[in-house]
Amino acid sequence: MITFDEKNQVFQLDTPNTSYLIGIVDGKYLGHIYYGNKIDDTDVIYLLRPEEIPSPARRAREKVNFLDAFSTEYSCGGAGDFRESCINVRAADGQEGLELGYVSHQIFAGKKALEGLPVTWGGEADCDTLEITLQDAASGLTAVLSYTAFRDTDAITRSVRIINRGQEVLYLTRALSLCLDMDNEDFEVISLPGAWGRERRIQRKPLGYGSTMFESLRGETSQQEHPFAAVVSANCTQTAGEVYAFNLVYSGNFMTKLSVNQFDSLRVVMGIHPERFCWKLEPGESFQAPEAVMVYSGQGLGAMTRAFHKLYREHLIRSPWKKKERPVLINSREATYFNFDTGKILALAREAAKAGIEMLVLDDGWFGHRNSDNNSLGDWFVNETKLPGGLKYLADEINALGMKFGLWMEPEMISADSELYRAHPDWVLRTGRREPAQCREQYVLDLSNPRVEDYIYGQIKNVLSSANIEYVKWDMNRPLSDVGSLSLAPDRQGEIMHRYMLAVYRMQERLLQDFPELLLENCSSGGARFDPGMLYYSPQIWCSDMTADVERLAIQEGTMMIYPLSTMGAHVSDCPNHATGRRTPFETRGQVALAGTFGYELDVRKISGEERAQIPSQIAAYKKYHGLISDGEYYRIASYQENHFYDCFEVVSQDQKTALVCFVQVLTEPNKKSRRLRLQGLREDWVYEVDGQKLSGRTLMNAGILMKRMQDDFQARMLEVRLSGEMTEWEAQLDEKSD
Ligand code: GLA
Repeated sequence: MITFDEKNQVFQLDTPNTSYLIGIVDGKYLGHIYYGNKIDDTDVIYLLRPEEIPSPARRAREKVNFLDAFSTEYSCGGAGDFRESCINVRAADGQEGLELGYVSHQIFAGKKALEGLPVTWGGEADCDTLEITLQDAASGLTAVLSYTAFRDTDAITRSVRIINRGQEVLYLTRALSLCLDMDNEDFEVISLPGAWGRERRIQRKPLGYGSTMFESLRGETSQQEHPFAAVVSANCTQTAGEVYAFNLVYSGNFMTKLSVNQFDSLRVVMGIHPERFCWKLEPGESFQAPEAVMVYSGQGLGAMTRAFHKLYREHLIRSPWKKKERPVLINSREATYFNFDTGKILALAREAAKAGIEMLVLDDGWFGHRNSDNNSLGDWFVNETKLPGGLKYLADEINALGMKFGLWMEPEMISADSELYRAHPDWVLRTGRREPAQCREQYVLDLSNPRVEDYIYGQIKNVLSSANIEYVKWDMNRPLSDVGSLSLAPDRQGEIMHRYMLAVYRMQERLLQDFPELLLENCSSGGARFDPGMLYYSPQIWCSDMTADVERLAIQEGTMMIYPLSTMGAHVSDCPNHATGRRTPFETRGQVALAGTFGYELDVRKISGEERAQIPSQIAAYKKYHGLISDGEYYRIASYQENHFYDCFEVVSQDQKTALVCFVQVLTEPNKKSRRLRLQGLREDWVYEVDGQKLSGRTLMNAGILMKRMQDDFQARMLEVRLSGEMTEWEAQLDEKSD
């Protein structure tokens, strides 16, 4: 619900358990009053300290001091607030700065889409929206701050549209999406830094005076940092403490900056990175900044996670596959790398089909003359030497085995050794002054040029129309460098990185319009573009190239902290693992992959008979639990990242009648007792059956269960917790399915 208290000039945005309050001071300044557990009063403008920063009588004389201390809703550059600004503008005369003041507002049920951008959605019954219009009197620049409060989850989303209502050209030099000013209370910050093969590791550190920044200038959200930050109270755990969390619905450059200043105020800003950004606005033109999500939890990190999961499951992911069982796939990558032909792929498919695997995905190497990663990107026609009869023949043969066929593509890239590059060297991101830098021996296509976008989309469409291709893995394997475009005017070069992102979104949108049933999986050198922006287009994203189960525990824990389990591409791979050389049991690899969208990434012909024989039961477990895993509520019970010995999470069905506890003992410890695990999310007064015992939810959540000792390293165990006696809704559904 959203209300405006006219008398006190205060807006209140409520979600089920939280309130967010904004006030107008002096009829002009929009201030942030409060964000936290739900409150009752709107007579709270006093929290903005209007009498002391300085008093109204001294406001004009001390305007700079006022602006520098005021708890603002959206900070402006150049006028006296010396903290991080969200918006700044340069006029044609080179002069900068603006001061936005309140003009008007409107409140309505539901939510608008954002042109060209991924965005959360909701109908009139799901959410309410507040739009506040601000204007800079001197330039005519207008900003519309838009806030949506959801009714079914504790999430508030916000975005900003900037319009040039003046008479002259303006250059927008920053246009961030989120600003939150609040009193610092010795907060700490959680973020998700990483690297290739080590994506989204959970990092927590104190926020002292000065600034902490998380950012990407790579043109992708990146493996190195993530557009997520959570400000938490020092006592915050999974089940208690305060959390203010922020996530950007965008897949390109971003900046999250948290600064604690002289007055012990904390400012958090988040949005498109202002570096390498400059957007020209002709009179009448507008710019839409991406959406940012805010979640507050007064009950620890677990509640934050579940609020994000609900928002993304119910209001972001659109694919018809969202709640459907995804086909169990085998990906050719770690089975063959580039060394394959039709015969080899069909042999792999035959053996996979025998084991019950449902889809074969042909990874990199099927096009141009590509036998290694140094050529042919951009030449999206089949290599008939390797695949005589083309994709159609292969897909038909695979379909005849009762399997679906899926394909890898990397549409945004071009190899120097390609027909496309030889024909269009100008279609590459380049500055015009020097040779662009290669990475993985490839260049980035200049997607800010509409001709390039159209051509590439046409190529993708041709490929997908040429055979029965039911799944696409859309890869992106290098960051953007040499960001210049030969097709854009000099004063629009600062627009390229965002234009590039808009083109990627547009291409994926077209793909989904043209092939509505397609199962799209995004990927970027593993998990470099795992973000809410991409989830708007694809219900699953390849989580990491690191398929080793132990490493995966940490990667998946960081990912699941925000994103639903159903979005994590996770496969069982070979042993010893190709990247770590570690040997772990097939069962453990299976259980770890079961947390995400399940599949295999190995040569099913070459593994031992004993391992092959386990595949059908792993698939059966996936089929039994996928509904629970993708739709249930997630609880983190123990973190291997923190304790270095074991990992445990639990998923509870929405009706709370069934739960699954997934435990992995990474390293055994000598002379230790069995581990006591306290479950979560059950009904206190219900009796459950677990591990041959009948115990109440109250007992299971307070006293806990004992996880029996396991002798060796890398052991996994799954425990089902079910309501005693009756058949649960979840079991009834399974029962119906098997009829
Ligand atoms: C990226 C992906 C891998 C694989 C290779 C193919 O690294 O993350 O899964 O598809 O490209 O070249």
